[in-house]
Amino acid sequence: MKNNFILVTGGAGYIGSVLTRKLVEKGYKVRILDSLIYGKQGIEELIDNSSVEFIKGDIRDEKIVKESIKGIDCIVHLSAIVGEPLCKKIPEAAKQINELATKKLIDLSKLEGVKRFIFSSTCSNYGTSDGIANEESDLHFLSLYSECKVHSEKYILDSKTDNFETCVLRFATAFGLSPRMRFDLLLQEFIRDALVNKEIILFGANYWRPLVHVNDISNACILSINGKTEKISGQVYNVGDDSQNYTKQDLAKIIQDKIPSTKISIVESKKDPRNYQVSFKKIKEQLGFSITKSAKDGIDEIINEVNNNNLDPQESEFSNMSKLTEKVNVY
Ligand SMILES: NC(=O)c1ccc[n+]([C@@H]2O[C@H](COP(=O)([O-])OP(=O)(O)OC[C@H]3O[C@@H](n4cnc5c(N)ncnc54)[C@H](O)[C@@H]3O)[C@@H](O)[C@H]2O)c1
Repeated sequence: MKNNFILVTGGAGYIGSVLTRKLVEKGYKVRILDSLIYGKQGIEELIDNSSVEFIKGDIRDEKIVKESIKGIDCIVHLSAIVGEPLCKKIPEAAKQINELATKKLIDLSKLEGVKRFIFSSTCSNYGTSDGIANEESDLHFLSLYSECKVHSEKYILDSKTDNFETCVLRFATAFGLSPRMRFDLLLQEFIRDALVNKEIILFGANYWRPLVHVNDISNACILSINGKTEKISGQVYNVGDDSQNYTKQDLAKIIQDKIPSTKISIVESKKDPRNYQVSFKKIKEQLGFSITKSAKDGIDEIINEVNNNNLDPQESEFSNMSKLTEKVNVY
């Protein structure tokens, strides 16, 4: 293993808590830096593992960041104020965390001799795309959330040197079970509405969105940690699968098939103008990436958990608009 000691920022989050588990299972040494906005449920079982170091701290704190990157081979940078609604609610903190702290982390990592830096970006940077967007397509940020992602992507790719390898992963919208669960993601939101309200209300029913399971996102991160330099450094990859581009109406109908009591109501609205279909050919061809779970599989696993009383979709902490975010301050 070339890159053995991995720092996962935001390692206690929805994606981070799945990724860190997989890394530990595969024999990596993992350090997690997280301010624990949503608590430590996602990594509770991991903290005592001898392969895991945990640092509770804020990515905007330079002293903490310097301590966190010491001895690290590769960083997977996930920590962020995630999603447009939350960025809108706390815009100054969002800009500081998502863009300014990201740039600082890059500079310090380069100085400290970190070999590889993987940045979690988003396919929502494509905004509204005509046709199918690929990694070369123009980016249209429609929100502060993706504006910070687009600016950070550019900074990261410009920071590449022979000794500092950089890679941008643009994740499709995630779904699936995680130890730090979220129900404010498109598919999960629809499932919750079908189960609780027996109705899915669609804004932009024919708008396209690509989806990807949280386990598969983690697999893509691991491929990027140890992929060959020429395949990784300076590269951008969309993370998902061509078969998983859906319109919102397609998704609602799949859920209705599984939960027949669901009514689908369509509302004309410009509430969320994002509409993009994405090509995932590059990651398949260059890194040999393939998904293990479709949206249908994700729907089944979540419905099962709810039906077995292991998960309450109405739990307010399962949303990034949770009251817990009120303690995120401007630095
Ligand atoms: N979930 C998705 O659908 C999706 C899609 C595309 C990209 N992404 C990106 O993937 C990454 C992870 O997303 P997620 O869904 O796991 O989100 P999440 O909100 O569950 O996790 C983010 C984590 O970052 C931590 N964090 C926030 N601010 C911090 C700070 N100042 N210092 C230290 N830690 C801090 C939080 O405590 C949390 O554990 C994000 O960068 C997100 O933009 C997610």
